[in-house]
Amino acid sequence: VSSAAALLDDFAARIVAKNPQHASFLASSLSLMSAEAHASLSQYIDYCLAAGLDIGYLADCYNTITIDTQLEQIYFRKHKRYRWSQFSQVADKVYFNDTYMRKYMYGLALTSFLWPNHAAIHDFFRRTFPRDIGGRYLEIGPGHGYYLMEAARLGGFDTLVGVDISATSLALTRDIVRHSGVDRSSRITLIATDFLAFFESSADYSCIVMGEVLEHVEEPARFLRKIAEMSGDTTHIYITTCINAPAIDHIYLFCDPAEIVSMANDCGLAVVEQFCASYVGKTLEECRERQLAVNIAYVMKRA
Ligand SMILES: C[S@@+](CC[C@H](N)C(=O)[O-])C[C@H]1O[C@@H](n2cnc3c(N)ncnc32)[C@H](O)[C@@H]1O
Repeated sequence: VSSAAALLDDFAARIVAKNPQHASFLASSLSLMSAEAHASLSQYIDYCLAAGLDIGYLADCYNTITIDTQLEQIYFRKHKRYRWSQFSQVADKVYFNDTYMRKYMYGLALTSFLWPNHAAIHDFFRRTFPRDIGGRYLEIGPGHGYYLMEAARLGGFDTLVGVDISATSLALTRDIVRHSGVDRSSRITLIATDFLAFFESSADYSCIVMGEVLEHVEEPARFLRKIAEMSGDTTHIYITTCINAPAIDHIYLFCDPAEIVSMANDCGLAVVEQFCASYVGKTLEECRERQLAVNIAYVMKRA
């Protein structure tokens, strides 16, 4: 058994020890993952260990997001809405709570390998990402920073800017960027602010990424409009969100992909490619009928 395989076995065992109901989901996820995905996951865990975390804490991070999401799913099934609808109702519990936010963000990064729906979105990001385009990159809500780090590797940008409302998210992003060394080839600026308050006087970005932010804000259309305003004719725009997907801090409920596309169109954006990842083990049709969570990603252009 390789040391990477032993590490993943240990990680999985610790998750299951605290959350035995998750055992079959996890075993199935791990068995469906490609060798490349196994390697990326164990590299991410290695990075976390090198950053001073321990494997038990990482298992706790993963269990935190899994269990909290399950609790919100129960609420959503009963009430047909997300528990909260205002930023102020979740801000102190989540974004400005350093202990919780760290767990949530490390957990979220781990789900991008371990939850088949999140892994499918992650693959779509890599598959559609413009390689070696250079220029300036903007990411709104980098959170754990994994996508920003990958973008720096894939895109060959001169400058990358990350804007996040949570100081904890920016600390995590700063750490992964430094550890991976991508800050040696590009200039990376991380700014703690609400994207709606972010002011940039300079030119267009060659790429703008906003993963899982729209459902976290009260007025998603303002985010889309601002992205359109900051884009040029050729800017690669990548946006993800979700439908009927409760989570502790999801406050804006989208019920149908058509709603998102029409909002984007109204804000001056055109969809180039759409990708839907259905609830694990269900078809998109079943998800529509039973209001199950669907993750959704778009490549867009300024219209
Ligand atoms: C769920 S995480 C997404 C992390 C990562 N982009 C991904 O796709 O996995 C959402 C991130 O958006 C940030 N965020 C929420 N509202 C924001 C706002 N108004 N302006 C900037 N960032 C915001 C949060 O602090 C958090 O880091």
